[in-house]
Amino acid sequence: MLPGSTWDVAKSEQLYGFEYWGAGYFGVNAEGNACVRPDGPGGPEIDLQHLVEAARQRDIRLPILFRFNGILRHRLRVLHRAFASSMAEYDYQGSYRPVYPIKVNQQRYVVTALIRAGRELNLGLEVGSKPELVAALAMHDNPDALLVCNGYKDRQYLELAMMAQRVGREVIVVVEKPSEIDLLLSISQEQGIEPNIGFRLRLAGRGAGRWERSGGERAKFGLNVTEIVAALKLLAEHGKQSWVRLVHFHNGSQLTNISALKQAVREATQVYVQVAKCCPRLCYFDVGGGLAVDYDGSKTAFESSMNYTVEEYARDVIWILKEACDAARVAHPSVVTECGRAMVAYGSVLVAEVLGLANTFTTTVDALAVGRQTSEDTVLNMAQLLQALTPKNCQETLHDAAELRQTMLQRFSLGLMSIEDRALGDQCYWALLNAINAVTTKLHYVPEDLRRLPSQLTDTYFCNLSIFQSMPDSWAIDQIFPITPITRLAEEPRRRVVLADITCDSDGKVERFADLRDIKHYLPAHELRPQERYCFGVFLVGAYQEILGDLHNLFGDTNAVHVELTDDGRVQFANVLRGDTVGQVLRYVAFEKADLVERWRHALEAAVSAGRLTARESAVLQRQYDEVFGDYTYLR
Ligand SMILES: Cc1ncc(COP(=O)(O)O)c(C=O)c1O
Repeated sequence: MLPGSTWDVAKSEQLYGFEYWGAGYFGVNAEGNACVRPDGPGGPEIDLQHLVEAARQRDIRLPILFRFNGILRHRLRVLHRAFASSMAEYDYQGSYRPVYPIKVNQQRYVVTALIRAGRELNLGLEVGSKPELVAALAMHDNPDALLVCNGYKDRQYLELAMMAQRVGREVIVVVEKPSEIDLLLSISQEQGIEPNIGFRLRLAGRGAGRWERSGGERAKFGLNVTEIVAALKLLAEHGKQSWVRLVHFHNGSQLTNISALKQAVREATQVYVQVAKCCPRLCYFDVGGGLAVDYDGSKTAFESSMNYTVEEYARDVIWILKEACDAARVAHPSVVTECGRAMVAYGSVLVAEVLGLANTFTTTVDALAVGRQTSEDTVLNMAQLLQALTPKNCQETLHDAAELRQTMLQRFSLGLMSIEDRALGDQCYWALLNAINAVTTKLHYVPEDLRRLPSQLTDTYFCNLSIFQSMPDSWAIDQIFPITPITRLAEEPRRRVVLADITCDSDGKVERFADLRDIKHYLPAHELRPQERYCFGVFLVGAYQEILGDLHNLFGDTNAVHVELTDDGRVQFANVLRGDTVGQVLRYVAFEKADLVERWRHALEAAVSAGRLTARESAVLQRQYDEVFGDYTYLR
């Protein structure tokens, strides 16, 4: 707590909801800085501000994406523990076979950190395309772990998968379309290989949340029951029922409601037990991905949340499977999960610096002094409203102010009001709204129109980041990510802000923030101080954001740092991946440095010939131009 203040770090922790969305990985330390616990709740803490400093000393500039290998390891253990204990509780005979779907974050050091952490647990990989398979073929080196091949496939894809089988990997080709079986039969005949296959089910039951339509009868992927019956018949005709090893479904990502999962598991288990009767080697039940992340901490079925825990998820899957298998006298299968989001979302935190502010609606005026500055009636009336404001008349004052402002705007548009009077009138109006908002704290009941005031009185903090590159789901699908200042959390945040990025796109804004009851339309933040760095952390961005991020305005990949804690508690930058340079992003769009430099040289030469520049000045401008190519795309 700062001297003379009643605010403390616990209040900030509560205000920003660390304990609700942080799953024990994030909190506020006694210094008032946001901190990370890579080994989970109760583990050692890393101060995010110290990390930024350590990066600065190594010339790694903001924005920086910090990836915490410890969190990745811990997530894997959480998932494993949940399934192991459910299996023990229900005397379940099958084993747990986790698989990491690399589409969720294909970054090499994320994949290798997980493979290393998952060796003992036989963590497998799931791929959905040829490039992913090519990476997995070389990275996947555990013969006891699964390699699950999903997605649409051509002959080359299937041949690659068969290569993995020939070197001893346990590959399962998940059949998404009936024609894939014909292709497999032909490759098998040519190469003398007996593939292991799975069926992806197109269940009648739909998912829940944003990706609800990934499930259901109209889903893009999978075989419906008619197609499964036909596939079994085709395999039987060739005597290949023994190929079938796995039954799979995936009803969409971020399943917000546990009842949708239970319904899907029930339907899929019935397929499993019936297919098991004619396929002697069937032994895997793959529940796909979809385990959600509670981004807003509300524990509800809202799109950015989830109304269940990892433990409940595991218990439901195991219980439903056990019941159905016991009733049908089928051996308990090994359970495969392809949870991606729940495994990697927590592992990455983006830190970006605030560059400045705009749209300052937090303002006050001296109402008595207004009369000395103008004779414009609308402005004087606004100042009078401010003087006469009381808790009793505040709602009426709000309505009068809105009407007066309309008149003011009309008079200005008709040329009846000077720009100075308009500026003073605007200031009085916003000061009045701030004053009304302040008096509402004295009301027992705050009416709806007054309750909306805080979200109208927000300032804009410009941050050195691109929403399109670093948190594209915030723009594309209104996904909520927890955002907090990373310093000064022992101080009361007195501003209400929305965040704007540095792209030239009016969509490049964050105006929705995590809240337990609803969406909050502003983020509490501190006043900016001259010469002092003020940064926000954007949390839970480890899943999907990096690969979906785009180059809008040619802002490239950010710097990324993999953080490890050594056994003696020191912080180590295990891997540093420099973000894109200006030259690199220009190459993506076919601008070659040599060509641009030469063209610029021509322009300078022409300016020298025309006498606008001296030769020496042109050399300086040439050097400045050349240097930018090697620089980070973000602002200095
Ligand atoms: C087949 C399959 N498995 C697993 C996943 C990972 O899902 P999630 O990240 O929601 O766990 C996906 C992604 O949607 C998928 O399509």
